[in-house]
Amino acid sequence: MPSVYLKTYGCQMNERDSDAVAAQLVAKGYSLATNADSADVVLLNTCSVRDAAEQKAIHKMEAVAGRLRKKRPAAVLGFLGCMAQSRGGELIDQLPDVDLVLGTQKFHRTAGYVDDLLQQRREKIVDIDDEAGSEGTIREHLLNGNAPKKSVTTFVSIMQGCNQYCAFCIVPYTRGRERCRSIEDIFAECRELADRGVKEITLLGQIVNSYGKREIGVQDGKSAFVQLIEAVHAIDGIERIRFTSPHPKGYGEDLVEAYARLPKLVEHAHLPVQSGSNRMLKLMHRGYTRERFEELVGQLRTTVPDIGIGTDIIVGFPGETDADLEQTLDLCCEIQFDNAYIFKYSPRRNTPAATMPGQLPEAEIEARHTAVLKTVDEIRARRLRDHVGREMQILVEGPSRRNPARLEGRTRCNKIVVFEGATRHIGQLLPLRITEATRTTLYGDPAVLNCH
Ligand code: SAH
Ligand code: F3S
Repeated sequence: MPSVYLKTYGCQMNERDSDAVAAQLVAKGYSLATNADSADVVLLNTCSVRDAAEQKAIHKMEAVAGRLRKKRPAAVLGFLGCMAQSRGGELIDQLPDVDLVLGTQKFHRTAGYVDDLLQQRREKIVDIDDEAGSEGTIREHLLNGNAPKKSVTTFVSIMQGCNQYCAFCIVPYTRGRERCRSIEDIFAECRELADRGVKEITLLGQIVNSYGKREIGVQDGKSAFVQLIEAVHAIDGIERIRFTSPHPKGYGEDLVEAYARLPKLVEHAHLPVQSGSNRMLKLMHRGYTRERFEELVGQLRTTVPDIGIGTDIIVGFPGETDADLEQTLDLCCEIQFDNAYIFKYSPRRNTPAATMPGQLPEAEIEARHTAVLKTVDEIRARRLRDHVGREMQILVEGPSRRNPARLEGRTRCNKIVVFEGATRHIGQLLPLRITEATRTTLYGDPAVLNCH
């Protein structure tokens, strides 16, 4: 059977979509290739959030097409996901070697279309239409595939799209309006995963706390999202639950309180703030103030003292002054984020921010990025060092990325811990003593491990 090389750019949603596509192709008899140059089918699942991500995928496709077409003229080359959705057939005009352009509501059609192209029933396919019910089609999982960690910790897509329309963001255009799956459907998927040995589930959505707001609504003072967490919490075998991303706007007290009540909900929150300046937050159309964000973090830390808090920050949004940047730096120092992704603002087509006055030169954005990165890296390193000497529970995921002779897992607060263990530890919850911290990673003591 033909082999498929599938590469993913961008966020966890995209990883999840790719995993469902891979499972679908494998079920049809395709094998997965680790190298594009020897594959019969090359699929790039793309990201549009910043221009750099789009350029990466385009360059990769150009390079692959140049080499592969000579060896295998009948190979199928395709773009999937966000960039495919936003650029459509224009991608084939730009790169005539591309045969397939498949949008974000069409992942479940990949195998069928690839068959059609390989068997030359069709010459080119562009499908970026809306499809009713597509939010429920990202369901299949390839456990024990070429990403063995997925068999311990797995993403579950609970909703698609976003209605927030932040001024900088292309996602509402590439992913469409917000659509949610039912609690029953998500529960059934998680149940199946637990039966297959999965221990940790991360519920995925653009704004998970707006899950089911309209379709399901509040019951007994609990939002639909909290009702969903409770349902997943009841599944035997699921030991840990995470979710990403919640949005500070509409983050209710019921969700704060859920951390205290539900032991499987681990002590971690990724809470994108974007800026420390109220003026910027307003221009960005984020729907909350810095004060509200601070209050929310305060509530979370009071309820869950050891909670790890991560965030996303954009620097160089149009009109950002030195004073605005100062406020972002100040917020980072005040909150002491455990982890922060710092993004250089990138103008996206059709978004309001792209035509706002005060666009900053690239060099200036670069300098601001470096400044914020320096601050958050120091904070992260300091917070990691604070863990040395503590005994922490980790869920062992598999071989360490840097040193495959060792194992790695994550603490409940989402810190990676590397330690010396044996294959049989994979999938287990282990208490380890933290012995050492580098700027990004913790190391655990195997002596403690041997006692258990
Ligand atoms: N749903 C998420 C955001 C998804 S996009 C939320 O809760 O807000 C992931 C991150 O990419 C955003 O948090 C933002 O920091 C960054 N991002 C989005 N659009 C961007 C742009 N045009 N330029 C730079 N960074 C951007
Ligand atoms: Fe994008 Fe804002 Fe939605 S960042 S995904 S429009 S919450």
